[in-house]
Formats: sequence, structure tokens, C-alpha cells
Amino acid sequence: MSESIRRTPATKRPDLSNQHLLWLVVAVAIALVVVAVLGRLLPPHLMRPGSGLLQSLAATGSLLLLTPFVFSVKKRGGHANVPNRWFVAHVLASLVGVTLVSIHAFASFSGPPLLMVLSLLLLVVTGIYGRVVLARQMAATLGTKSAAFIPSDPDLKSKLRKVINDKIALLQQIDPDADEAVFSVTLGHWLRSPVQSWRYTRLATRESTLVGNRTTVPVLQAWWRIVHLLLAWGFLFGLLVHVFLATFFAGYVADGEEIYWWHLTKW
Ligand code: HEM
Repeated sequence: MSESIRRTPATKRPDLSNQHLLWLVVAVAIALVVVAVLGRLLPPHLMRPGSGLLQSLAATGSLLLLTPFVFSVKKRGGHANVPNRWFVAHVLASLVGVTLVSIHAFASFSGPPLLMVLSLLLLVVTGIYGRVVLARQMAATLGTKSAAFIPSDPDLKSKLRKVINDKIALLQQIDPDADEAVFSVTLGHWLRSPVQSWRYTRLATRESTLVGNRTTVPVLQAWWRIVHLLLAWGFLFGLLVHVFLATFFAGYVADGEEIYWWHLTKW
């Protein structure tokens, strides 16, 4: 480890302040308005979604929009040495990606691909909400009393004890050196022992339900991450289908009209 890293470890952890984040989103919005206005001045053949220019922007944007999934795999695979670096990369790359892909999509403001643009918009909205608003709320929630410790269900303690004992026993098969209190299943565990990982995840969900994690915090705080994740994976699915159809089933996509974009087959 170099001297400078030892002396100033905090500076090696990149961060993106809420203020910078909000400015970036405003910049993206302004860029899109400017492009929409300038786009009208360009020759119409350039401003079609499949023109060389806009298709290239879409391809670049789509590649950038894969960054969040690398972040997810790194984070869940336990491979992110500096997790914040990947978080920041996911936000920056996705904002540039959203801009490029939107320019491509808005050139023909119609059809199912617009659902993907809507997902991107909701991803940015939920992402900002999670980062800027909820992060503050969550910090306030930490350390507060959970419903599990309110003595409403006399069986609760024994049910919880059983779940935790089952988790500890299962952990012996998944990762014998791990500590149940801080353990969470990563991609590596899923690949090495899928059945045990699935059983462990079910136990963790049961524990969370017993403790009342999702019922003791506001609805949005409990569900935003799941919504953000579902939107993200839904978007990725739509993107793959869209690229596959436009590249291999160009005839189907053109629906009798001219196939003017780069493609491999005309099925
Ligand atoms: C301004 C834009 C965005 C912001 C502020 C944002 C914010 C966030 C936040 C706060 C998290 C949780 C991070 C953590 O648990 O450490 C997250 C996770 C994630 N985001 Fe975003 N996001 C944005 C855009 C996007 C976009 C456009 C996509 C997809 C195309 C995306 C995909 C993901 C994924 C896949 C994760 C999950 C990582 C995991 O597996 O836990 N995000 N985002």
C-alpha cells in the first residue's frame, strides 16, 4: 500500500454529493431540450432513430447503460474493493447513457421502445429519490426500535430463535467461516451452492418479516430498492429484445417499410 493511501484513505473513496447529482440531472434535461431544438435544424434523414448517427449514439448509450449491471454483479459478488467507485460509475454512466439513448428514441416518439425510455426516466427518479431523500430518512431510522421488540406476539422470540439457529446451521454448509450476524448471500454462494443459498435467502426473508423490517419503515423506504431493481432488470430485458429484433429481425421491425439501419438479417 502506498504512503499516500495509508495517510488519506478517505480521499480514495470517490463520492458524488447530492448537490452534484442534482446538477447533473438538470444538465441532462437541458442537453435533451437543446438537442430537441437543434435536431429540427438537421437534415431529416440524419434525425431518424436508425440513421448512422443516431444508431451509433444508441449503441454507445446502451453500452454505458450496462455499467449499473456490472456494479450490481460486483457488489453482490463481493468483488467491489471500493464499492462507492462502482456506485458513482453506475450513476455517471447511466446519466450519459440515458441522454444518448433518449436522443435516439425521441427521433421517432412512438412504439414499444418508448416504454424503455419511461423505465429509464423512472430509474432516474427512483434513483434520485433513494439517494437524496431516503438515504437521509434511513440514517434517521437506524437505531430506532423495531416492531419485533414490541411484545405483541409471545411466540415471536422462539420463532426468531429457530430461524436464526436454522440460518447458523445452513451457514456451515455455505460458508463455514462466515458470521451469521453480518453474512449475506453473494453471487459466488449462489453459483457454488444454489439450493442452500436459496434456503438461506428464504430464512433471511422470514427473519425480516418476523422482525417487521418492511412494516416499521415508511412504504417508499421499504420498497424503493425493489422497484429500482425491477425497473433496471426489466429495462435490460427490453433492451436486449429491442437490439436483437432490430439486428436480426429487421424485416419484422420495418413492417413493410424501408430497412435503412445497420442490421445483420432481414427476417
Ligand atoms: C441518476 C440516476 C440514478 C441514481 C441516482 C441511482 C441510484 C441508485 C442507488 C442509490 C442504488 C443503491 C446503491 C446501493 O445499494 O449501494 C442503486 C442501485 C442500482 N441501480 Fe441505480 N440509480 C440511477 C440510475 C440507474 C439506471 C439508469 C439503472 C439501469 C439502467 C440503474 C440500475 C441500478 C441497479 C441494477 C442497482 C442495483 C445494485 C444492486 O444489485 O444492489 N440505476 N441505484
